[in-house]
Amino acid sequence: MRGYIDIHSHILPGLDDGSVSMDQSLNMMRIAYEQGIRAIIATPHNMPGKGCPAREEIQEALLRLRAAAEENRIPVELFRGTEYYYREEVLQLLEKGNGMPLGNSDRVLVEFGILEEKRYIQNAVKAIRGAGYYPVIAHVERYERLMEDLETLSGIRKMGACLQVNAASVLGGNGRRTREKVKRMLRMGLVDVIGTDAHSDRKRGPYLKECAEYLYKKYPAEYVDSLLYGRAKQWL
Ligand SMILES: [Fe+2]
Repeated sequence: MRGYIDIHSHILPGLDDGSVSMDQSLNMMRIAYEQGIRAIIATPHNMPGKGCPAREEIQEALLRLRAAAEENRIPVELFRGTEYYYREEVLQLLEKGNGMPLGNSDRVLVEFGILEEKRYIQNAVKAIRGAGYYPVIAHVERYERLMEDLETLSGIRKMGACLQVNAASVLGGNGRRTREKVKRMLRMGLVDVIGTDAHSDRKRGPYLKECAEYLYKKYPAEYVDSLLYGRAKQWL
């Protein structure tokens, strides 16, 4: 195994509400390494109020962190990405070919408001597909209305979306109800990829090890492999 791949991380310093400094970013990388992560796709927010860094800024921050990690001998690969808060503007960006997909893929990480209607999310998936990309729905367990309806969840996967769940939610860090819903999705094979959604080197750090151990205990190894790196390695 080449190690886990974290496709959702606010690890780049100073671009959003994630890491605040190069030191913190390096600490996050050290933690990630200890957790078994060997590749990270950096996904700063593109969301009014939280940060909307330009592509060049992301690229520059990525190169700086990559160089610092090398200097500090932290063997974790870094790739570029963005977490888009879905809105009309994002669609226009994608249509013009100015988006920043995950790594070298045609997958874009998108998030929504937690109370967003199912229909709106379905339409977003359709529109993103129309723009030539495949969406990865960030922390799908947060969208209450979508989670109420497993048929719709399975439907948007059939439309080409991947569903990402946060590692903390698997372990109950976001409440028991969320955990139960995530377990049901896992049993049904509706989860495509686990990410940390790390924001710091503290409480919201890039923790994955305990989640991975739990998953390997409960679910078929082949499925867990795909959740932790198998799927994502196609995107690097
Ligand atoms: Fe995030």
